[in-house]
Amino acid sequence: MIEMNFTFKDVLPFLNDLESEKNQLLLASAYSDLVTKNGKGNDFLGWLDLPESITANLVEEIRQTAKQLREQSDVVVVVGIGGSYLGARAVIEALQPYFASEINNNAPQLLYAGNNISEDYLYDLIKLLEKKFFSIIVISKSGTTTEPALAFRLLKELCENKFGKTEAAKRIVAITDKQRGALKKMAVTAGYKTFVIPDDVGGRYSVLTPVGLLPIAVAGFNIVQLLEGARNMRKLLLSSNKWKENLAMQYALCRFLLYTQQQKKIELMVTYEPKLFYFVEWYKQLFGESEGKESKGIFPAGAVFSTDLHSLGQYIQEGERMLFETVLSVEQNMHTLPIPYMEGDADGLNYLQKKSIHEINRTAEKGTRLAHLEGDVPNMIISISSINEQTLGELIFFFEFSCALGGYMLQINPFDQPGVEAYKSNMFQLLGKPK
Ligand code: PA5
Repeated sequence: MIEMNFTFKDVLPFLNDLESEKNQLLLASAYSDLVTKNGKGNDFLGWLDLPESITANLVEEIRQTAKQLREQSDVVVVVGIGGSYLGARAVIEALQPYFASEINNNAPQLLYAGNNISEDYLYDLIKLLEKKFFSIIVISKSGTTTEPALAFRLLKELCENKFGKTEAAKRIVAITDKQRGALKKMAVTAGYKTFVIPDDVGGRYSVLTPVGLLPIAVAGFNIVQLLEGARNMRKLLLSSNKWKENLAMQYALCRFLLYTQQQKKIELMVTYEPKLFYFVEWYKQLFGESEGKESKGIFPAGAVFSTDLHSLGQYIQEGERMLFETVLSVEQNMHTLPIPYMEGDADGLNYLQKKSIHEINRTAEKGTRLAHLEGDVPNMIISISSINEQTLGELIFFFEFSCALGGYMLQINPFDQPGVEAYKSNMFQLLGKPK
């Protein structure tokens, strides 16, 4: 039933006391704190039950809203930052074909705003939207984050000028807190369709709420299967507190020991499929914001191979030995493309002719793992059979659960983000924001 696999045999030579009483107790206590909801930040554990608790009515409401947005739009702009945007983008980019915007597949083009403060980005976006039938999904749990608020102010004005206030109100959907925040107030005043981000679900754990599900449904993907994948993984991870039977406990323990015993301070999440780039970005945010506090935490980094083997590869192989690698591996590709035979073999590639390109990619993956292992870069593999809604749902829940476990093993609160405020307060002071 579960299509995801986790392999950690290649880190075993680096770790000597995986089964020591001390480590097993720490892991068991992290697991117990999480599932009995007794750990730090336990008022933010709503994500743990989301795959089961989401109602059929809410799923249907999301699908109906998505249908309406699809019918009325050439472009849907998703406005949000951090956890209010990365999960949706991760799933959409993983599932849609490369060059999606060039392919007429009856789905509106999804564009993103509010995830930076670049004036040129906003200018170019507005110029593009002026010529399009567009709609907006604006997402902010707090309803007060500067980046999406600023982008939304501009896009709302454009939408109202282009379509008129009444029609604009039908083209804007707000996803925010059930009662607090400026966005909620604006949505009520203007009469936008709204969805609620539950109080007990933090931004980076919110992809399986309307925050992720609405944009994913607008892009034409099956949110029921995504939720089913997450539900299957949840069932598996809650079914056993024995580390040998629990993939998330294995991953959390290996990460923790590589960090504490081997001083491997950086986890490099590697994919050989460029369409998983944003999935790796989502992982970076999930783990970075969850674990990086109280002067602790593994730094989550990402790379797309083989592309980055030609940039970061040298450092990984021979630079400072502070890295371990986790490979997000995809077993099957979707399409095949024969390698043409070349008379005279001028490029010397005829020897590859009997292989598929995917096989060559998989061989690059294997060869690289072995080389990195020899170069003192321990590596683990998280593999999925293929990229689809079901496997992405499994991965999402697996990473969320592992991240929470990892945070508890480090004895920090994985569900807050006090450090994010520091840049904001400096910026507000420098900008002269009224108190
Ligand atoms: O994970 C988090 O909590 C953050 O990354 C938030 O999602 C991000 O800061 C955006 O916050 P908001 O949704 O309140 O605009």
